[in-house]
Amino acid sequence: MSRKKTILDLYKMKETGEKAAWMVIYDACFAAYAEEAGMDMILCGDSVGMIVYGFQGTVPVTMDVSIAHTQAVRRGAPNTYLIGDMPFGSYHASCEDAVRNALRFYKEADVDAIKLEGGVRVADKIKAITDAGMVVFGHIGLTPQSSAAMGGFKVQGKDTSTAKAVIEDAIAVYKAGARCLLLEGVPEEVCAYVHELLPIPVYGIGAGVKCDGQVLLAADALGMYKNFTPKFAKKYCDIAGMATQGMADYIKEVKDSSFPAPEHKYKYTGDRDELQKLFEDMKKDFE
Ligand code: KIV
Repeated sequence: MSRKKTILDLYKMKETGEKAAWMVIYDACFAAYAEEAGMDMILCGDSVGMIVYGFQGTVPVTMDVSIAHTQAVRRGAPNTYLIGDMPFGSYHASCEDAVRNALRFYKEADVDAIKLEGGVRVADKIKAITDAGMVVFGHIGLTPQSSAAMGGFKVQGKDTSTAKAVIEDAIAVYKAGARCLLLEGVPEEVCAYVHELLPIPVYGIGAGVKCDGQVLLAADALGMYKNFTPKFAKKYCDIAGMATQGMADYIKEVKDSSFPAPEHKYKYTGDRDELQKLFEDMKKDFE
């Protein structure tokens, strides 16, 4: 079992050019697979709202839901760098709220860092959380929590003026004290400029290859979520297909009684005649 990474390991990886691979996971079972596979980091993302709870977006996710899932991930992957995801509303009203809720992730779910969405507009919150001694991952570009304000899940920075806004956000997040930055849904060129500019690790999801590593939702990468797959997601296996087939096979075998087979049954070790007699007696009483 390898040692849990620290923020210093992430900086070392950037320095040596080793890319970091992380995935978005919400439960202990998949967290354990990730740890066994050697995942560098796990984000317990607020996309749990869509993937697990069936909401249209991430906005309804609460702190209690996020904490419960992050705790489950930590139990499944005790030795993997874990990032908690601040849900919508948990850091917007005030810096006090932001610090209090970030602390909950640390104290209740044993995270190594927290992530929050937004650039210039949340720089004061990033600074407050950082000043309180926590590690913040910024998240800019396509930020799902503000999809309503953006007019949907829209790629950001496709022209010069919006690319400028992305770069300004990146600078604001860095200056506020974020230790790492995630860029989502931006053209590769824009991500490459941000990567060139900032001394902190810059990771991407739908932002091309010119950065310090990649994150994908396990639900997309492992083919678990059938409702929608973004253009940037590669499907490494087809869990949905396997699960549907497995369930269809199970239904068939239950109906034709080929399941349970002998290897799935418990053996009776007592005296069979005695059992038979006991049953006959009990049957008489029952009638
Ligand atoms: O919640 C999530 O899945 C995320 C990813 C898009 C990085 O924040």
